[in-house]
This record gives sequence, structure tokens and C-alpha cells, in this order.
Amino acid sequence: MIHLVAKEVLRQYQCKSFIETGTFEGDTLALVESWMPELPHLKSLYGVDLWDKAIEMTQKRVKHTQLFEDNSVNWLKTFVPQMESPAFYFLDAHTFGWLPAEQQEISNSYSPNNQLYIQELEILMKSSGPFVICIDDWNAEYNLSQSKHLIDHVWVTTSNSPTVCDINGNVRGIGRPSCYFVKGLDETILRDLELQREE
Ligand SMILES: C[S@@+](CC[C@H](N)C(=O)[O-])C[C@H]1O[C@@H](n2cnc3c(N)ncnc32)[C@H](O)[C@@H]1O
Repeated sequence: MIHLVAKEVLRQYQCKSFIETGTFEGDTLALVESWMPELPHLKSLYGVDLWDKAIEMTQKRVKHTQLFEDNSVNWLKTFVPQMESPAFYFLDAHTFGWLPAEQQEISNSYSPNNQLYIQELEILMKSSGPFVICIDDWNAEYNLSQSKHLIDHVWVTTSNSPTVCDINGNVRGIGRPSCYFVKGLDETILRDLELQREE
């Protein structure tokens, strides 16, 4: 789930669109929708998940988000050129262990070896931006070495800060780091938000 620092990132970069890959039950989209009154630039929200049940569950919780049942890589290829900039991409479709076996097999067939976020990044990095990318559940040692050809450093949330909250502000779990990086935007904003730089 998204960290509260994302609200500040959205605000400071004046993002106009928010895109989540992997919606699951819609926790993140419901939370981001609840921030909209304080984020006047944020006009368009999109969520994509390949599992029909995830889309059904999310649909019950959101009002302002356009939802799509699709593989995130296919979806991004089609829709990235249409996103209003600056866009904020929250990549969270990469986690194993969330899906019934059948859906996991479908996801694996699109992206063996859990490389979905690399395929997503390849599409996004070819686009002109400007944009912010946030990748959830970041493991620097593993993920940064795999994505070195696409990104050379990232800004990371502290791993144990209790910032993973549900829509009512209740802490739902132990925070795991997210990484952030930007294209075509001033990255000192990420530094000033006291995220840690990792190379
Ligand atoms: C970790 S959960 C997402 C949690 C959610 N982002 C949140 O903040 O609460 C991962 C989701 O990714 C979806 N997923 C897995 N592979 C996918 C793919 N290739 N394309 C789109 N969604 C995918 C799964 O169906 C699952 O709902």
C-alpha cells in the first residue's frame, strides 16, 4: 500500500494523474481519492489489475477512478501516451503470493521470474514524461541491481516508519520501503522530503 509521503509528493509535483498497477482490494486508490480535496491538480485516477475479483473489490470502494482489467504491461503500452503530465505511477503489481493459483499463473505467463516491474519501467522510461514513479515493496539490493540499465539511483522511504495507513489513518501494517524517482522534474523535492538516496 502507498505511504503517506506520496501525498506530499503528489502535492509538490502538482501531479495531474495517478496510475496504480495492481489494485488488489483498492486500499491505495481509496486513500488517494480521499486526498483529492487537498490536491487540486489531481484530476484523473486509473487502476489496472489482471484479476477480475480485484477490479470488482476496488470498484466498490472508489468513485473517481477508471478501472481496467488487464495485464499492466499491455495497459501501460496503450495508455501511457494519453496520461496527463506530470503523472504519478504507483507500480505494485509485482508482488507474488497475493493471488489464487490460476491468476498467479496468468501473471507469471506475462512476466516470468517476477520481472513485471522491469517491463513496466521499460515502457515508462521510453515515454517523454514528466513523471514520478513509485515502486512499492522495494528491495534495493535486489531491485536496483536488476534495473540499473533503466535507473541509476532512487529515493527510498525509511523501512520501518509507521506510514502505511488505511483510509481512516489507521496504521495497517509495518511499513516497507517504497522507492521514488522522477523524469523531467526537480528531484531535490524528493531529497527535501527526507527520503534516502540509494545508488
Ligand atoms: C500487492 S497486490 C496490490 C496491492 C495494492 N496496490 C494496494 O496498495 O493495496 C498485487 C496485485 O497485482 C495484481 N497483478 C499481478 N500481476 C499483474 C499483472 N501482470 N498485471 C496487472 N495486475 C497484476 C494482482 O492481481 C494483485 O491484485
